[in-house]
Amino acid sequence: MGKIFIDACLGKETPYTPVWMMRQAGRYLPEYMAVREKAGDFLSLCHNPKLAAEVTIQPLDIVGVDAAILFSDILVIPNEMGMDLRFEKGEGPIFDKPIKTQEDLDNLRDGKESASRLTYVYETIKLLKKQLPEDKALIGFTGAPWTLATYMIEGRGTKTYNISKKMLYSNPKLLHNILQKVTDAVKYYLEEQILAGADVVQIFDSWASAIEPNKYDEFSWQYIIQIVDYLKKRYPDTPIIVFPKGITAFIERDLVYGNFDVFGVDWSTPIELAKEKLGSKYVLQGNMEPTRLYSKEATKEAVEHIAKVMENKRHIFNLGHGILPDVPVENAKYFISLCQEVTKRD
Ligand code: CP3
Repeated sequence: MGKIFIDACLGKETPYTPVWMMRQAGRYLPEYMAVREKAGDFLSLCHNPKLAAEVTIQPLDIVGVDAAILFSDILVIPNEMGMDLRFEKGEGPIFDKPIKTQEDLDNLRDGKESASRLTYVYETIKLLKKQLPEDKALIGFTGAPWTLATYMIEGRGTKTYNISKKMLYSNPKLLHNILQKVTDAVKYYLEEQILAGADVVQIFDSWASAIEPNKYDEFSWQYIIQIVDYLKKRYPDTPIIVFPKGITAFIERDLVYGNFDVFGVDWSTPIELAKEKLGSKYVLQGNMEPTRLYSKEATKEAVEHIAKVMENKRHIFNLGHGILPDVPVENAKYFISLCQEVTKRD
């Protein structure tokens, strides 16, 4: 049996529009919390292939999604480049020694060496290839260089990105050097994920909207496309999904380019606009507002609207960003089965 999710990524006709959710393996599932408890903490879970594989599969069994996304985190890359990482309750990820100078950057491991240290991720993928049903696809992933760089420069999550953006305008050379070093690590990291068995890969540019549209290509998109070109030259059959969050102005001005397969539409970009501007070139993924999941009526309204606009063609259903930790599991199940039902072909 083929994989419906891969067919959809390649723009082929499928029996219904497949669906998955960003952050689908996580805290809204009591079963996830139990395994995290067993692992000790979140990073230990990422480092444990057996348990990471177990939580990767949970949303397939529990909510019925059409694809699994590898359980890991985007920050394992800077971590293996040599930056100490910890997760603080209520605070999220923290790097105690953020990059401030060229010397700090030079002290980090290069791309190939960093990627070669992420063996626990490749082991998880290999285990999953044995455990996943044959008709379900496995999505590998990475953060985009810009999104990773914001954590490496700020040392933690931020609402303002002021340290990274100060560097963007006042020391662009250092920022470019950081972005290039991270890009090299990401290229090899995704290559190793594909070699281990990932069927598709997604690049998350979660903090894309922090950059003004006139600077977005220079400081983020061109690096994403460098990664896409590297992979497409070597693995032309592996679909690539790019998810840049909050770049409506960039889309409107027809600035999106590149040889990837699927464009992830965030919730703040109208699906009609994405279809008009990008729908003939890319399969579109998305884009229900994740907070709608708290209400079944609000979920139904959005699913029907998105399905109507996309006409069951060149589309993958998803949220327009990650599922929130306190969403009722029942509502997530409702979203998944509704997407599958309303797009069913006769
Ligand atoms: O289910 C999946 O989608 C796969 C696993 C996954 C995680 N993180 C697990 C995780 C994926 C794809 C990510 C990506 C990720 N990580 C992104 C990009 C996607 C996005 O949402 O924009 C970003 C920006 C990160 C960085 C990160 N990791 C933050 C900011 C946090 C803390 C936020 C929070 O909710 O506490 C994490 C931790 C994290 N990554 C958790 C999970 C399940 C929560 C850890 C826990 O408490 O168990």
